[in-house]
This record gives sequence, structure tokens and C-alpha cells, in this order.
Amino acid sequence: MGRAVLFAWQAAFSLFIILSLYWYLGHDQLANVHTPPSSFPSHGASNHQDGNQTHLPVSSTPDKTLLTHTRTTVSVIHTPSAAPTLAVIKPAPGKTSSNDVLPLSNRTAYVHTIIHPEDKTLPRLECPPFNSSRYDHLQAKEAGGEVNRPTIQYFFALNIRERLSLLPRLMGSIVEAIRFLGPEHCVLSIVEGNSDDGTAEVLEALRSELDALHTPYYFNSSVINPKKGPRIEKLAELRNLALAPMLDPQNAHLYDHETNTTVIFLNDVAVCPDDILELVHQRRFLGADMTCAMDWTYAGKDPTFYDVWVARTLAGGDSFFEIPSDGNWNSAWNLFWNEPTARQLFSAKQPFQVFSCWNGATAFTAKPFLENKIKFRAPREGECMQGEPQLLGKDLWWHGYGKIAVVPTVNLEYSDEKGKQIKDAKGFTSQLVGGEGNEDAIIDWKISPPEKVKCMPDYAHQYFEMWNATQRGDNTEKTTSKPS
Ligand SMILES: *[C@@H]1O[C@H](CO)[C@@H](O)[C@H](O)[C@H]1NC(C)=O
Ligand SMILES: *[C@@H]1O[C@H](CO)[C@@H](O)[C@H](O)[C@H]1NC(C)=O
Ligand SMILES: *[C@@H]1O[C@H](CO)[C@@H](O)[C@H](O)[C@H]1NC(C)=O
Ligand SMILES: *[C@@H]1O[C@H](CO)[C@@H](O)[C@H](O)[C@H]1NC(C)=O
Ligand SMILES: *[C@@H]1O[C@H](CO)[C@@H](O)[C@H](O)[C@H]1NC(C)=O
Ligand SMILES: *[C@@H]1O[C@H](CO)[C@@H](O)[C@H](O)[C@H]1NC(C)=O
Repeated sequence: MGRAVLFAWQAAFSLFIILSLYWYLGHDQLANVHTPPSSFPSHGASNHQDGNQTHLPVSSTPDKTLLTHTRTTVSVIHTPSAAPTLAVIKPAPGKTSSNDVLPLSNRTAYVHTIIHPEDKTLPRLECPPFNSSRYDHLQAKEAGGEVNRPTIQYFFALNIRERLSLLPRLMGSIVEAIRFLGPEHCVLSIVEGNSDDGTAEVLEALRSELDALHTPYYFNSSVINPKKGPRIEKLAELRNLALAPMLDPQNAHLYDHETNTTVIFLNDVAVCPDDILELVHQRRFLGADMTCAMDWTYAGKDPTFYDVWVARTLAGGDSFFEIPSDGNWNSAWNLFWNEPTARQLFSAKQPFQVFSCWNGATAFTAKPFLENKIKFRAPREGECMQGEPQLLGKDLWWHGYGKIAVVPTVNLEYSDEKGKQIKDAKGFTSQLVGGEGNEDAIIDWKISPPEKVKCMPDYAHQYFEMWNATQRGDNTEKTTSKPS
């Protein structure tokens, strides 16, 4: 087929797709496809320490990871061109489309860096080597010595949007962790949100590398106006989309009950391989249902704990630090001010139980998801307006999975540069674990949640709500969210 013919064919097909989308989405949604994503502040853009701040970081997902949900099976990639040609058909694996943002040579450089831990072509947070014998026990083994039963033990899930420069570190660490844990026992599932900086192209270009590792790779793009409609509901939907391959009945044979599949759900954080492995190690060592890192933001000179809207302590069901009704973060230094146990364990860098956490990176049991007891959701009618990760904590407790712990040796920020700052301030995970004086400590798990949990629809309105408010037998029913 000549080039011209091929081009004409492509053009015709693109037009068909555009028209189909137009028909499918309707005018409003189509217009939204072109809504500049820059209308969403990036992480840290909203200064938490501004005393006038009343808008909370909604959910633990920083704004920039706000993704959009598409109701079509056709992936739409936003093109930066001013022309309103909108749709690019997601290229078949290995192929590239003609509307690429990122030149092929750049894409190749990203992929090369991601798959080669030592590669220094592109800048990224440098992670020290880790003690592999600490994590040996996590390496997937063939179940019962059976030949080739590739059950999935680790499910990596990500929602990401426009974080090209972070990919060498974030994806590099994920690939390294996957290699270490046993590639054919890992799945990588990414839902990308209409990035126009080349993030999607690099992630698509990674496919052949993951194929070579025999790691099932699900990569999907989503489009919608993230500002439109109920935000938490959309975030929950996006998280559920990332988990969807695990819940697809066609894949059921890959997740048997013996496997104890761990979901590793990561924000767009500058994460090292051992940060990931430590969360998984602690989940197994502690017998935890969920483990979380600590995430930080450098809004000023000193780092402050970031996920304060979502995380709740065990004893009082309170936020990790106190935020008065004017919304200032002046007490951010005073973590666990009203919970001595958490305070003491935190300063000893030992894991402690909480009511809820997410904190940029988390490892949790897939079981209640596989059993259809839990999914990410928005608040119900009459339920405190809260982020989907806090609701996950609540639902986990409700179904008897209350062994939720923060692992204070894992400290994360949201860029390479600030990641280095936080590692300099708190230490790399490998410097803080193992060896003399750093023996792993167990947790004295409590079986009851706090009676009441702090509800913070916004800083000016804070009150305590029964931990189990509005819970019914089943959390997977259709939920509605309150208008925000
Ligand atoms: C923030 O609050 C201070 C008083 O606390 C006030 O002087 C200032 O004008 C406010 N700034 C904005 C942007 O509202
Ligand atoms: C991508 O997401 C859509 C829903 O938005 C889903 O129907 C489709 O199966 C997904 N594709 C892949 C490859 O996961
Ligand atoms: C692509 O690579 C060239 C050469 O290394 C570099 O100068 C340019 O900034 C890169 N572009 C992007 C978008 O990364
Ligand atoms: C590495 O991990 C193993 C197993 O946990 C431990 O025995 C050893 O002391 C560790 N080595 C260092 C240098 O921390
Ligand atoms: C799975 O978890 C159960 C209970 O938590 C435990 O008894 C079993 O050893 C675990 N299996 C694997 C393969 O880790
Ligand atoms: C909620 O939990 C409390 C204990 O914290 C219990 O007394 C109460 O019966 C529970 N309510 C429901 C509806 O389960």
C-alpha cells in the first residue's frame, strides 16, 4: 500500500472515530476533551500554609493526578495542537501514531532509562542499592511447586497524568521491583489521564519491555473534564479502572485465594525500589491488611505531612496533625499531638496502626476486592464528605481488615528534586531498616476501630462521625456522592 493511500485510509478512519465519539459523548463531553488540563493546579501549587486556604487537597491524590474517565473503549489522547482535531487512535502495541508529542529518540531515551536502573541519561532521584536478602522472602514462588502456574501475587496500580519527568524514577523503580519480585507473578495496570506531555507515549512504549518480562501490562487512557461532576466519585472510578483487570472474570484463574495478592497502588511519587519492597515486606511481616508510606510536601522550608485530609489515627480517629478552622497548617510539625502511642512509634520509626491512610504509596490485600466486598467509592447520602482512600479504610475495617499500618521508614515526595530533599531529611528506606538497632518491630493489633472518626468536609467544618456511619452489609452498591 502506498503512503498516500495509507494516509487517506488513516484520515478516513480518524474521521470515523471522531464522528463516533461525537455521537457517543455528545457535544458537552466533546468540548471537554479540549479543556486545558492546566486549569488544575499541580501538586504543591496550593499553599497549605496559607491561612486563608479553605480548599483541601481532595483525597490523597494530588490535583495533578486527577484523571478523567472515558466511557468509550477508544482511547483519546489530547493533542497540544491548536487545531481541534481531537482523537488519536491508541496505536497498536509497538506501533506509533503520527500525532506523537515526543520524538521517537526521546521516547527511546525514557524507556532505556526506565529499564536500566544504572542509566543516567535522564535526571532522576538516585536511589542507593538495597539489601536484597531482606526482601528475598517476597519473591514469588510457583505455587506448590507446580509447573507454570503464573498466579498473580503483586498487582501494581497507578493513576497518572502529565508526569513525564517523573517517569524515569517512578517507572524505573516499579520495573526494578517487578524484576525482583518475579515478573510473571506481577501485573502492571496504569490509567493515564489525557496527558499531553508525552507521558502516555512513554508508557505505551514500555509495553514491549513488559511483554519481554512476561508481565501482563494494562495501559489505558481516560478523558473527561475533571472539574465537572462529583470529584471523589470520579477519583474512585479511576482507581477502580486501574484495578479492573484484576476483577475481570476472564482473569479470575490468575488470582486464587491462596495467593494473597497484594495491590501496590502508587501516586506519582519519587519512589525508590526499596520503598515499594519495604511496604510489601511490612505487609507480610506484620500480617497487615494494608501498609502506607508517609508522604510529604515542601510547601515551605520544612516538609509537612501531606495526606492529612485522608489519614486518621487509631486511638482518636483524628487527623495526624491539628488543623484549626481557619485552615492553617502551623501545627503540621506536631504530628500525633493527641495520640502518644502513634507519636512514640512514629519517632522510633516503627510501624503503627491507624484507622486510615494512603500517603502516596500503599500495599493492601486484594482479597475483599476479589470477593466483591469492597471497591473504591464516593461518600453515600448522609455520610461525611471524605476522600475515597479514607472510605477504603472505613470499608476495610467494616469487613474485618483493620490491620492498617503506617510504615514511617518510607518517606516520599512528589518530584525527584523534593524526593531528594525528603530522603536527605528523613533517610532512604535502606538506611533506616535492617541491621543493628533497626530490628523489625511487630504491632500489637487492635481489633476495634475508634468509635468516632474526624470528618473534615472542609477546614471550617470539622466534627466527629461514628466510624461506621451509613455502613450497610455491602459496600459495592451503587453510591451517590453529595454535591461539593
Ligand atoms: C488572608 O487572611 C489575612 C488575614 O488573616 C488577610 O489580611 C488577607 O487579605 C487574606 N488574603 C486573602 C488572599 O484572602
Ligand atoms: C480501557 O478502559 C475502558 C473503560 O474506560 C474499558 O472498557 C477498556 O476495556 C479498557 N481497556 C483496557 C485495555 O484495559
Ligand atoms: C528530546 O531530546 C532532546 C535531545 O536529547 C532534548 O534536547 C529535548 O529537550 C528532549 N525533549 C523532550 C520533550 O524531552
Ligand atoms: C540484610 O538483610 C539480612 C536479612 O534481613 C540481614 O540479616 C542483614 O544483616 C542485612 N544486611 C545489612 C548490611 O543490613
Ligand atoms: C496467605 O495468607 C494466609 C493468612 O493470612 C496465610 O496463612 C498463608 O500462608 C498466606 N499464603 C501465602 C502464599 O503467603
Ligand atoms: C457502629 O459501631 C459501634 C461501635 O463502635 C456499635 O456500637 C454500633 O452498633 C455500630 N452500628 C452499626 C450500624 O453497625
